Amino acid sequence: MQIKQLSERFAKKKSSSAVGLDIGNSSVKVVQLNSCAGTRELAHFDVQAYKSRQRRDIVASIKKAMETAGIDSQIVNTSVAGQAVIVRYIQMPRMTKEELSKALKLGVGKYIPFNLDEVNYDFQILDDFSASAPGKTMRVLLVAVKKEVIEERIKILKEANLTPAVIDVDAFASVNSFHLVSQGSSGVIAVLDIGADITSTTILRDIVPIFNRDVPLGGNNLTKALIEEFEINAEEADRLKHNPKDKYGDLINAVRPVFDSLAKELQRSFNYCESQLGAMVQKVFLTGGTAKFKGVDKVLSSILGIDVEIWDPTLKLQINESLEKERLKETGPILTVAVGLALRG
Ligand SMILES: Nc1ncnc2c1ncn2[C@@H]1O[C@H](COP(=O)(O)OP(=O)(O)OP(=O)(O)O)[C@@H](O)[C@H]1O
Ligand SMILES: [Mg+2]
Repeated sequence: MQIKQLSERFAKKKSSSAVGLDIGNSSVKVVQLNSCAGTRELAHFDVQAYKSRQRRDIVASIKKAMETAGIDSQIVNTSVAGQAVIVRYIQMPRMTKEELSKALKLGVGKYIPFNLDEVNYDFQILDDFSASAPGKTMRVLLVAVKKEVIEERIKILKEANLTPAVIDVDAFASVNSFHLVSQGSSGVIAVLDIGADITSTTILRDIVPIFNRDVPLGGNNLTKALIEEFEINAEEADRLKHNPKDKYGDLINAVRPVFDSLAKELQRSFNYCESQLGAMVQKVFLTGGTAKFKGVDKVLSSILGIDVEIWDPTLKLQINESLEKERLKETGPILTVAVGLALRG
């Protein structure tokens, strides 16, 4: 199984439908997009939490999500994330894609901290040579994923009677979604997907990715902070997090250390981009389930001293009239990865 060519990410077909399946740390999200003559319609969606992280419960949630969403297709685009995914930006002598493919076959090992036979890898040349830039080198995005992780994903899908057409990486699926809202904006920006366990960060310069990092912090860390501070159980903490009512002031104080830690990690990444790549992040775009935490944009903005905006890819899609608008509004940014996967066509 190969990860499909990253270069095909932006490919568009005339009339088609595609399903994106995001198997996150807290829940499975599924969407079906129908594309026709340049318009994209969100035709089906659903989110199902897991009873546990055991394979049979993940499979059950996938089946339930597909059924509840009313999706018949057995072909889905899906993604992986976490420590088994290695993303590297490397500088190579300028060469054709075919030459690069051969060169990487021989030399990819030096960029990846795993044995070559343990991973599947894929690459994309990032420089746009049509823009009359006759440089001697080119930037290449290299993505490697541990085979065992891909094999486990395929097993899970098979048990749910599904077959993957594309296996992408969460961070790139988010960026793919972001292109819906960014409209080709220029400058240096950070796209953040704050989930349950992971905040995936991609820094883009003039919409081209230049840096990625997954920070192991997310909504579950906020919940844990509330459990400790208010001495309540996980369910109560989650309820409070979703609906703080008049406890908001105390709640923000309790979760502040988590946001401080997250901001510290983000700042490290931003500093790296500035000092090593000459790219100063001008704005942060936030999505994922924890982007729904009340005031998260203001908190992060005040710590980082930088503009933070929450975005929701579903606002840029046509919505099938059979879908519940209120539920979609509630769900919005949670679907970012699934939408980005379905956009792969
Ligand atoms: N309205 C809300 N207010 C606060 N937090 C919320 C809200 N809705 C969802 N969350 C939190 O968002 C997180 C889930 O987000 P998401 O579905 O993006 O994560 P995931 O994809 O399952 O996890 P990961 O990306 O880490 O694999 C949970 O911690 C959940 O409590
Ligand atoms: Mg996620």
